[in-house]
Amino acid sequence: PVLVVDFGAQYAQLIARRVREANVFSEVVPSTMAADEMLAKEPAAIILSGGPSSVYEEGAPSLDPAVLDAGVPVFGMCYGFQAMVQALGGTVERTGLGEYGSTPAQVSDTSSTLFNGQPSEQSVWMSHGDAVTEAPDGMRVTASTSGAPVAAFEDDERRLYGVQWHPEVMHSTFGQRVLENFLLRGAGLDGDWTAHNVVEALVEQVRETVGDKRVLCALSGGVDSSVAAALVQRAVGDQLTCVFVDHGLLRSGEAEQVEKDFVDATGVDLVVVDAREQFLSALAGVSDPETKRKIIGREFIRVFEQAARDVVGSAEREGHPVEFLVQGTLYPDVVESGGGTGTANIKSHHNVGGLPDDLQFKLVEPLRLLFKDEVRQVGLELGVPEEIVWRQPFPGPGLGIRIVGEVTAERLDILRAADQIARRELSAAGLDREIWQCPVVLLADVRSVGVQGDGRTYGHPVVLRPVSSEDAMTADWTRVPYDVLAKISTRITNEVPEVNRVVLDVTSKPPGTIEWE
Ligand code: XMP
Repeated sequence: PVLVVDFGAQYAQLIARRVREANVFSEVVPSTMAADEMLAKEPAAIILSGGPSSVYEEGAPSLDPAVLDAGVPVFGMCYGFQAMVQALGGTVERTGLGEYGSTPAQVSDTSSTLFNGQPSEQSVWMSHGDAVTEAPDGMRVTASTSGAPVAAFEDDERRLYGVQWHPEVMHSTFGQRVLENFLLRGAGLDGDWTAHNVVEALVEQVRETVGDKRVLCALSGGVDSSVAAALVQRAVGDQLTCVFVDHGLLRSGEAEQVEKDFVDATGVDLVVVDAREQFLSALAGVSDPETKRKIIGREFIRVFEQAARDVVGSAEREGHPVEFLVQGTLYPDVVESGGGTGTANIKSHHNVGGLPDDLQFKLVEPLRLLFKDEVRQVGLELGVPEEIVWRQPFPGPGLGIRIVGEVTAERLDILRAADQIARRELSAAGLDREIWQCPVVLLADVRSVGVQGDGRTYGHPVVLRPVSSEDAMTADWTRVPYDVLAKISTRITNEVPEVNRVVLDVTSKPPGTIEWE
């Protein structure tokens, strides 16, 4: 792999993604990892990320010169650039000429490895208070800015490269080109990390891990569990059984989509548990949001537990005990929980949200090295339907937390009808990718007066909650064009008789959350 050494800011994951966009496999490692441990991974190249410290401060993360002496191509960015300079004996100083944001850079050698064929003036994204004032011996300076006399350098012989700026950030106009030049020209890599090859490698790995044992997967219909299931299915075929719990809180067509489209596309062995009645009666009379969430969580565990026991039991009777449980864990979770590889032998308790103690599984996490966009590419490669691959997030408790008030079968029908119209119109307007998700919320306990066909109505409002977000931690309300909103509103009030008002939620997160409950 290409190792991205994380010097402690938010940049390393982004760099790892950009490397993969160049079809080169990358892994994030902490800067505290010892040099010989890094080199033991036989890295094809090493990238040193930016970070918040000053290299000359006491306790600042430093770079072991052994990393630079091993003959492995190295590319330092921002803090990584300065750490490289310090390790090689150049000078890093506080010059009082910090640069933050878009900055013009003068490239003095446009035939160099990093800048080959690029313009001699380009916009780069800077964020530094310190600057390199003297390049280490043997380094050829190839670019400068007004605040950074040494803004880029390279040494083709030792295959060492560096830039003061952040090429991984989109505001660096030629950033991706510079990065690719390092990977493909400087380090001489092939760029063969493609969805096709990834699928082949992962299928092979899953086969090796699972052997002839049986595997269980809780399918939610979301992207991650669907792609993970499809991959395991490709690897071990009908040794995999998926369990899908229909809790009756799904949107229109969703259960059918999983049952039909997903199975058709992947051939997965699917057990669908129809638990609609069970959830509805458990929710009867409850309107407090947290209580609803707890009830839905509890019932989900009960239903899944029973289904898992049934599957495990029948597999055991056939002499093929179930040993593995599929999880759709993604790389950001792995990095954020401190990395590490290998399959953990855990009680699935913590992950599926509570299996009984006597059901113990080993985990198969085939997506644990992938970012979300790569999971989607892998899904497409596996033939998972686009509707699933590009699905927007949908909460586990489903429509149960989008009805403000008690959840009843009738209210669910009303909400499903309104939600379907909103989803169809947003899709038709081509807004699916721009909108992170658009909850439609039924204010079931609110009524207002309206007029329709000369008659008075006394119906419920629904709220449209379109949001834009990167990761759901923060969000802004999406500026959906008025004519699209108008169409949705007209259609809902015409076609869903119980709804006589459509309102738009224009609150960001924070202070609002995305869901209303
Ligand atoms: P909030 O409402 O907290 O939602 O801004 C953030 C994101 O999480 C989704 N969400 C959930 N997803 N189980 C889930 O799997 C849940 O209980 C749950 N609650 C909220 C929500 O749709 C949004 O994408």
